[in-house]
Amino acid sequence: MSNQVYLFDTTLRDGEQSPGVNLNAAEKVQIAKQLAILGIDVLEAGFPITSPGDFAAVQAVAREVKGATVAALARASFKDIDTAWEAIKEAEQPRIHTFIATSDIHLKYKLNKDRRQVLEIAVAAVKHAGKYTNDIEFSAEDASRSDLAYLCQVLEAVITAGAKVVNIPDTVGYTTPEEYHNLVTEIIKRVPNIDQAIISVHCHDDLGLAVANSLAAVSAGARQVEGTVNGIGERAGNAALEEVIMALQTRRDIYHLTTNTNTKEIYRTSRLIAGLTGMPVQANKAIIGKNAFAHESGIHQDGMLKERTTYEIMNPAMVGVAKSNLVLGKHSGRHAFKERLIELGYQLAEDELNKAFGRFKELTGKKKEISDYDLEAIVAEEARETTKKYNLDYLHISSGTTVVPTATVGITIEGEKTAMAACGDGPIDAIYKAIDKITNLHLVLEEYVINAVTGGKDALGEVTVKLRQAANGKIYIGRGVSTDILEASAKAYINATNKVAVSD
Ligand code: KIV
Ligand code: ZN
Repeated sequence: MSNQVYLFDTTLRDGEQSPGVNLNAAEKVQIAKQLAILGIDVLEAGFPITSPGDFAAVQAVAREVKGATVAALARASFKDIDTAWEAIKEAEQPRIHTFIATSDIHLKYKLNKDRRQVLEIAVAAVKHAGKYTNDIEFSAEDASRSDLAYLCQVLEAVITAGAKVVNIPDTVGYTTPEEYHNLVTEIIKRVPNIDQAIISVHCHDDLGLAVANSLAAVSAGARQVEGTVNGIGERAGNAALEEVIMALQTRRDIYHLTTNTNTKEIYRTSRLIAGLTGMPVQANKAIIGKNAFAHESGIHQDGMLKERTTYEIMNPAMVGVAKSNLVLGKHSGRHAFKERLIELGYQLAEDELNKAFGRFKELTGKKKEISDYDLEAIVAEEARETTKKYNLDYLHISSGTTVVPTATVGITIEGEKTAMAACGDGPIDAIYKAIDKITNLHLVLEEYVINAVTGGKDALGEVTVKLRQAANGKIYIGRGVSTDILEASAKAYINATNKVAVSD
């Protein structure tokens, strides 16, 4: 058996099914390109039949992303499969991923079909997909709660029909490491043609066991692991791929397995996804949380100073965590700025570099010392601002304990300057009302989160907003950074508004 584990990332499909997450095509392409740089083998770009928007996004990923297989999800129906193929057919390496549930619970209550019917549908679906490509993955949804003999019968039949990867999802996050290990072991024993397919696992985190279950399955012989970056996904989410990758790498002495990933890209990928999905990573999250490599206790700090490995099992540099030492200030020139970005892994085009350097210089007027985290925040903001209908020109705020908060906001709309004033319950409410007057879009503020990028009174404030479009309920996420939190708030709102404008 090969010692290579393939990584299947479903951040853009299962991850996007997280409540309140809505990625547009440009954002999906941006994430997919970064996932390819990370070394993910298979990218599940979406579920094309579900909406024209999802179809377009999957098609854009298929056209633009190189170096990884691009998969599209399809129920075991010919129409779904035709649509999935239409969306991915231009990919370098397209894969059709078709699924149907195999557990009695799903058969009875969801599908209203018997076991024989489901078996026939699964086989027909795989054969139909085979008219388009050899790269076919079949998922037996709710496999971990399915009757073992029946599951094995379905797997054998779909492999005979042409499936090259068979996925055994723990759809509801119910299994445990021992049980899942046994399940994979039994499948290998009982499915006679299993050597003609790769066994894949797909775990949800309802009991907090998704990563442990995935690793248990891998030790039993599974060779593809599905998951998402930051563990986002339906309900409690999917197996966090960064944890799977680092567990396999850090405990190679146990697993003796390799992946194709460039682990130094993990942190950057995580930040990008957290930013674009509006789902922040908790501070104590393994591998990529803010505290994952922070040592607070005196005893630990003392140990670290003597020898890093006393309290660190992984070197933060290995996952691309930026050093938090202070690097640049107002005397730093363009060259030093560029060099530091290259060290952090950012290769910007000339015009992007010029814009980012302009932002950096602006920032040095307000903040004495600029850390790696600040630089990343600036670069991420520049990367986000691709298509801009609305540009913030200025903000005037009048606020205090004894005055009605009032904001005047100046915005350029496609080259034309305009301004509006509004009063509100607070200065941010006033700013948002003034922006709404200008754009005339009916948006509801669903969520507002503010974080300091680094410590200190002059820290950059990073605001994330979620706006809901009243007409269709769609969610748009925006982010803005500034040392002035009111400006960051306005930028975040305008960033989300620009996404509404693009999607209309
Ligand atoms: O959780 C699940 O079963 C899925 C399948 C569609 C693979 O997401
Ligand atoms: Zn899933």
